[in-house]
Amino acid sequence: MTLIRLEGVSKRFAAAGMEAPAETEEPLHTAYYARMREPAFLAPPGVALERVNLVVRAGETMAILGPSGCGKTTLLRVVAGLVPPDAGRVYFNEQDVTEQSPAERRIGMVFQNYALYPHMESRENIAFYFRLHHREQEIPERVRAVSQIMGVGFDLLLDRKPPQLSEGERQRVAIARCIAREPSVFLFDEPLSNLDAQLRVRTRAEIKRLLRRFHSTCMYVTHDQTEAVALGDRIAMMRAGRIEQVGTFGELYDWPATAFVAGFLGSPPMNIWPAQAEADAVLVGTMRLPMPALLRHPPRAGAPVLFGIRPEHLHLDDAGPIRLEVEIVEPHPSEHALLVHGRVAGYPAVAKLPMATGVPRRQALRLTFAPADARLFDAFTGERLP
Ligand SMILES: Nc1ncnc2c1ncn2[C@@H]1O[C@H](COP(=O)(O)OP(=O)(O)O)[C@@H](O)[C@H]1O
Ligand SMILES: [Mg+2]
Repeated sequence: MTLIRLEGVSKRFAAAGMEAPAETEEPLHTAYYARMREPAFLAPPGVALERVNLVVRAGETMAILGPSGCGKTTLLRVVAGLVPPDAGRVYFNEQDVTEQSPAERRIGMVFQNYALYPHMESRENIAFYFRLHHREQEIPERVRAVSQIMGVGFDLLLDRKPPQLSEGERQRVAIARCIAREPSVFLFDEPLSNLDAQLRVRTRAEIKRLLRRFHSTCMYVTHDQTEAVALGDRIAMMRAGRIEQVGTFGELYDWPATAFVAGFLGSPPMNIWPAQAEADAVLVGTMRLPMPALLRHPPRAGAPVLFGIRPEHLHLDDAGPIRLEVEIVEPHPSEHALLVHGRVAGYPAVAKLPMATGVPRRQALRLTFAPADARLFDAFTGERLP
């Protein structure tokens, strides 16, 4: 089994006619909050990877999660050997593979667009690699074995060419082709994004079954947190070419390293409101909220902070300190929840209330929260206050 280690990996592409944005002149207390709304916050032009360090343990599936353009595909292509990094090293176990070709690395890659040869039957698509490497004698057994692993109905696809296959069938063939080579490392780049919702769930379960079966080391790139949670043993959350946090979903969800991670994970994600610390309270606009609990180093009075509270941690309470001005109410029957969208002190806000609450008729709701459920972040760096 293979452990993958990236050390200080960087990659930039020339971004014609585009300059990195200048530092904002915003007052300190809105600096991070304001930057979160700019496109360069997620992906500065030309920057693909910035000194990325990452260890994927032998046999684990690491989900690489992040918004479009944050460098996920580039990271995967560097691990595969398809893109040379500008700086840094890639190791498979103790071996430095930075200069090795993709073939030497024995990786199996599944792409969003399948990358099947359109003029070849599925059987040939699976066999091609072995033909290329003069291992023809293995082909019948490889095709038989992989067909059995892929399960019911797969043999029916073997004699068809990609144009005669549905999207879902094409992806099954692409996955089978990857498995047949018995790679030391599986790399998936948004393999489900062309499939409809139902097929996506089925194929996701199939990928999970295969990963379990092979105990292979895997990196799974996605912008969809549901997929990252379903497939990843751990998640590496990326933003703007950097890895912001690595951990289990629970760790990232409960203890996000930055306001960005907090504001990405969850459905809907954590509310983040600019605020000011007081001795034992936090001011959001004119609302005085209790100081979040569990802080080892509470902020000094007067410090600008970002206050974070998850929508499901807001509760109706006529005496509550938060006033939510209601804009839209959205029922979510499958979760027995009502999403109430609106504003708190002028900032966008969402509360997830029990369905039984009924659709609020009032234009403003009073809400409360448990201090242990709230988080504080540095207003300038976005880092969670410990
Ligand atoms: N071949 C390329 N040439 C120029 N820019 C590229 C190239 N590949 C990626 N980029 C840029 O690098 C950044 C990261 O891209 P990518 O790794 O594809 O992100 P993601 O997969 O997370 O959407 C983006 O700004 C993208 O435009
Ligand atoms: Mg991509």
